Amino acid sequence: MGGCCDNGGGGVAKSEGSGGGCCGGPPPPLDKKSSTTTTNLDDEAVVLGVKEYYGQTLQSSASLKTSACTSCDRPTGRVAEALKLVPHEVLSKFYGCGYPIPPGVNGLRILDLGCGSGRDCYVAAALVGEVGEVVGVDMTDEQLAVARAHADEYCASVLGYARTNMRFVEGYIENLSGIGIGEQTVDLVISNCVVNLSVNKERVFAELFRALAPGGEFQFSDVFCDRELPQEVRTHKILVGECLGGAMEEEAFLAMATETGFLEPIMVTRSPIEVHDAELRDLLGDAKFSSVTYRVFKVAEDRRIKDGRVVTYNGKFEDGKSGYRVSADVTLLEGQKTRVEGKVATAVCETWISKFFDVERSCCSGGCC
Ligand SMILES: C[S@@+](CC[C@H](N)C(=O)[O-])C[C@H]1O[C@@H](n2cnc3c(N)ncnc32)[C@H](O)[C@@H]1O
Repeated sequence: MGGCCDNGGGGVAKSEGSGGGCCGGPPPPLDKKSSTTTTNLDDEAVVLGVKEYYGQTLQSSASLKTSACTSCDRPTGRVAEALKLVPHEVLSKFYGCGYPIPPGVNGLRILDLGCGSGRDCYVAAALVGEVGEVVGVDMTDEQLAVARAHADEYCASVLGYARTNMRFVEGYIENLSGIGIGEQTVDLVISNCVVNLSVNKERVFAELFRALAPGGEFQFSDVFCDRELPQEVRTHKILVGECLGGAMEEEAFLAMATETGFLEPIMVTRSPIEVHDAELRDLLGDAKFSSVTYRVFKVAEDRRIKDGRVVTYNGKFEDGKSGYRVSADVTLLEGQKTRVEGKVATAVCETWISKFFDVERSCCSGGCC
């Protein structure tokens, strides 16, 4: 393995940052040119506050003050099975709000933005198999130390792999090129309750669009809000740390994703977030928060389907017996022909998940759609 950040040609990062900050460029990950985010002391303070919150303030999931960084969903199928194998220390420092790993990921190259102690990377490492690859990126040393501590032993003894198929890299999610993540080198980017913490979300989206291969997917669980939040909330140390202060207004997120070049995001799950702490609740006023999981696909404009398709799930992924859930509204059952509208049709026909479906491509010219 080369020196820090030398990944030998631009695949998913091959290096493990050593904690000296060499892999992500100097903090903070701010963009002076961004139209909506400027480099200012508030932003720098937010980044340092988040590092402190996840590196020192929180000792475990039990120390959280709100339910934002916890998941109400239940994991299913192989994700639930894989979770049982994850080391206790990794699980104890899990601060995510969902399960952003889609079915059928065997063999994929996965990048986890803000991996923390690594829970989702450990699950993904089991699901991609020994030929797949998982890279976790995070800016907080203490979290990375936990993620790294168990990786070799887990892959060798628990998964029975001859090589460790996951790595953890120190860096900023706004600067993936700075940690050696090459253009179009990742099949699936996942993230669990992290994008809200970024002070430059446009840049995160631009970076992951660059890193994803054509037909790739960004699946993420995050906290969303029903309104733009005022500055005092967006810079409040605890509210930001608890993933509420930086929550995206959902319409603004949808616009940002499509402006970056992604297909219109597809929602998979949604659960309301309760804030019981009276002091924090007062600061938040009437704002309502939800934990939402979205699938965001990278499909070139000229490959998008406008008019829908008749598709059939072929049952070819490992735990798809009860059907393939493409979105909150669409679950495709094995062998059953179903007509899906343009956005879902595009995801099913033009991305990495197309191998799970048969499509009646000539149907529309005959007027049946
Ligand atoms: C709420 S925790 C979630 C961690 C992990 N995804 C999980 O599910 O347990 C947020 C994590 O994102 C990391 N983080 C926040 N902003 C980041 C940034 N701009 N670049 C890299 N990591 C970041 C924090 O260090 C922290 O570990």
